[in-house]
Amino acid sequence: MATILKADEPDALARAAEALDAGLLVAIPTETVYGLAADATNGEAVAGIFEVKGRPRFNPLIAHVASLEMAQSIGVFDETAVALARRFWPGPLTIVVPLKPDTAIHPLVTAGQDTVALRMPRGFGAALVARMGRPVAAPSANRSGRISPTSAEAVAADIGDRIALIIDGGAAPVGVESTIVRVEDNVVRLLRPGGVAAEEIEAMGLTVRRNAPGAAVEAPGMLASHYAPAAQVRLNAIRVNPGEALLAFGPDRAAGHETAAAVLNLSPDGNLAEAAANLFAHLHALDKADAAMIAVEPIPATGLGEAINDRLARAAAPRHGAGARSED
Ligand code: TXA
Ligand code: MG
Repeated sequence: MATILKADEPDALARAAEALDAGLLVAIPTETVYGLAADATNGEAVAGIFEVKGRPRFNPLIAHVASLEMAQSIGVFDETAVALARRFWPGPLTIVVPLKPDTAIHPLVTAGQDTVALRMPRGFGAALVARMGRPVAAPSANRSGRISPTSAEAVAADIGDRIALIIDGGAAPVGVESTIVRVEDNVVRLLRPGGVAAEEIEAMGLTVRRNAPGAAVEAPGMLASHYAPAAQVRLNAIRVNPGEALLAFGPDRAAGHETAAAVLNLSPDGNLAEAAANLFAHLHALDKADAAMIAVEPIPATGLGEAINDRLARAAAPRHGAGARSED
């Protein structure tokens, strides 16, 4: 079982850096969700990520950096990409840009593509990358097909038997993964909604293009059934059937809530940021209630609600066979 170290213990940074230097995997807190970190320049270490997660190799990983300068040594940043990094880093925005030739990034990180996903996280993650002096690859620290963990306990329960070290930074404050945008020729395309609302990017005077429905999958982790809990998930429920678990939102309850197997509210006040922060933890908890179905009350699709509804739609998507599931 993995050793769990509190992020604020004096030797936590040093021990995490030593483990990464030695090619080991470390689960680390970031402001979005916990990441399963490896030295992004060490192919065997990166391969270990896929092994632990049981994740298909063609899914590229985010390289975490400690500065815009480090990012620019790896990817080609046009003016728009620079402006986005200056506005949102450190923070929950991942920028996909063309990969520079001959960088130290291992090709497993980019899945052999000629683009690279870069993000500067807040807090422990950024401090760790700064100390390493080189990028750290980190997908969410869950097994393939499971929910992204927002606490050290959730990491331990899912992959604690497969890794050596977990850094416990408490509950992840944002609670959903980073927003991913692709930026090339000063055009911004939204690949995955997340912790930065598209409206915040538009507020900079930029146009955010969204992929047409049915367009080719560009962030492979965006495949349907990605975020599936064991229970089935039913969206926009205005009534709850007896024995179903209820994921509630806001002050008003769906009809039949009295007979639900369990009820958790993402945000009694209807606050979307609070709902995002609670999303995965509540799904985990309701999944444990052993109901066959989790009914979800309607959640507005504005701001962070876009990311929340996106995650829930994936959780509700028809399941593929285990072999066909291709997520991260
Ligand atoms: O908040 C987050 O982004 C968390 C924390 C740990 O940083 N990380 C995370 O990583 O969610 P992961 O691996 O679970 O999701 C990364 C997504 C995947 O959907 C992957 O396909 C996509 O990023 N991605 C990575 N590189 C890409 C690229 N070059 N082009 C398009 N999509 C890419
Ligand atoms: Mg993931």
